[in-house]
Amino acid sequence: MKKFLVTTPIYYPNGYPHIGHAYASFIADFYARYKRLLGYEVKFSTGNDENSQKIVQSAQQENKDIMTYLDEMGEKWKQVWNDLQISYTDFIRTTQPDHRALVQKMLQTSFDKGDIYEGEYKGYYCVGCEGFKTEKDLVLKDGQLVCPDHLTKPDLIVEKNWFFKLKNYQTAIEKFYDKNPTFLIPQYRFNEVKSFVKWGLEDFSVSRETNKFWIPLPFDDKQVTYVRYDALFNYVTVCQQDNFRSEDTEIVHILGKDISRFHAIFRPAMLMSTNTRLPDQEFITGFFTVDGHKMSKSLGNVIDPIEMVKNYDRDALIFNLLYDVPIGADWDFSEERLSNLYESMLIGGRWNLVNRVTSLCKKYEITEGKCKDGDIARLSEDENNPLFEMFSNGFDAHKLHQRYLDNADINWYLQDRYKLVQKANEFITKAEPWVKWKNPETKQQAEQDLKFLLYVTKNLGLLSAPILVNGFRKLQNILGNDDLNKIASSKNTMNDDFKNVFDMESFSVNLNPEIMYVKKEK
Ligand code: MSP
Repeated sequence: MKKFLVTTPIYYPNGYPHIGHAYASFIADFYARYKRLLGYEVKFSTGNDENSQKIVQSAQQENKDIMTYLDEMGEKWKQVWNDLQISYTDFIRTTQPDHRALVQKMLQTSFDKGDIYEGEYKGYYCVGCEGFKTEKDLVLKDGQLVCPDHLTKPDLIVEKNWFFKLKNYQTAIEKFYDKNPTFLIPQYRFNEVKSFVKWGLEDFSVSRETNKFWIPLPFDDKQVTYVRYDALFNYVTVCQQDNFRSEDTEIVHILGKDISRFHAIFRPAMLMSTNTRLPDQEFITGFFTVDGHKMSKSLGNVIDPIEMVKNYDRDALIFNLLYDVPIGADWDFSEERLSNLYESMLIGGRWNLVNRVTSLCKKYEITEGKCKDGDIARLSEDENNPLFEMFSNGFDAHKLHQRYLDNADINWYLQDRYKLVQKANEFITKAEPWVKWKNPETKQQAEQDLKFLLYVTKNLGLLSAPILVNGFRKLQNILGNDDLNKIASSKNTMNDDFKNVFDMESFSVNLNPEIMYVKKEK
């Protein structure tokens, strides 16, 4: 079976997940579910990044022992992902013993190879970013140099550190980029990374001498390594448990633009140094802003995804974020937009279609969906009807998927899919089966149209299964079809099941009205 590994960034658990975090997890969830439906064995890894200074500070502020704090936060983060129906298979915490052991092994391998050496670090460190900064990275605010993302003054540090010889990997990294022209998406982010590399790479520090909580270096027990090194190996730990990361596993990482250098430059070098397989693709996401400011725990302007899904459906939130935002773009989050999109597209578009078709079929006691010769051809009368394009060739996973998803064009993909819903709604309005039904001469045509609309509704539902998971589950209940009920986008499902149900041209239904999306009370 083909294998697919998708990861989110691992999050700092010094606060609760906000929309920006949920966005990365939603993208990964969508890919994981899609790949499952296409018959891949999927590993979907997320987790918490725990070896950080801000965690130590947060635990102290709450008067808690660090591990107690981390254990509590680990449970809370998992709960949020469960509530958002994120179908992860693995949740890594970087304080777990197997991860610490793996990181020490990696450090030792690079050390033995001569890629790690001792030196003195003199410069700035931003706790918000958990990263070293040069003056060039900072901005002036009230006469002081501050981190542009956190607007806080970084610590000035002078200490002995161990350094990774990144300079040694300059050529290898450039070759890797040349060989893998779609390694980073979007392209403009890839171009930025490439020009950064072209200017010449500097070695980077992989250890600190200050904190005893983190992971001790195997070759210097007075120093510890921490997030900026260890976190980058998190998925390697996850995969070693069941040897998932084999040569033929497709590996995709989702991460934000603020950590692209670490993932697109440092990590490939660290993986090369330790003879570890490199990923296939990294999708770099932008920032969500609120009134133009980056949403962040440190700035205190966060939007809680759980609050949003209480008021609207989880499907509405994922649909809003993935439909509106091209991967890579910054976006101002607006609850008003979420609310409008929920009412117009999920209630007014999708649910309206299902409701109209199934209510009429129930009323006229139609118990089967059917696509007869000629039904699909009728769609082609309306020029460029995307329904025709979609349905005339049966289910073609390659076509369905490759055109958009390999380039992370999720928003285009969803926009094109939504056009199908609009076309189906137009079809029913034009066909007027409720009028034709009353006339004995046209009654048969009305029946055929409604059966065909059940077929269209089933197939559009299938296409939305990896994203509108609540809607799809309800559609399964509404149609009450046994074969359709076999499809679960949160489990590994063989391609054949999905294809068979998609291609099913005649099927019985046991209609059972149920409201798919409920309008929020004002
Ligand atoms: N722990 C590191 C990642 C290590 S991955 C090996 C980290 N954690 S974080 O919690 O600060 O951020 C996690 C992800 O959320 C990052 O990809 C970051 O870009 C993203 N976001 C944090 N704030 C964001 C927004 N306001 N909007 C969108 N995503 C942003 O970085």
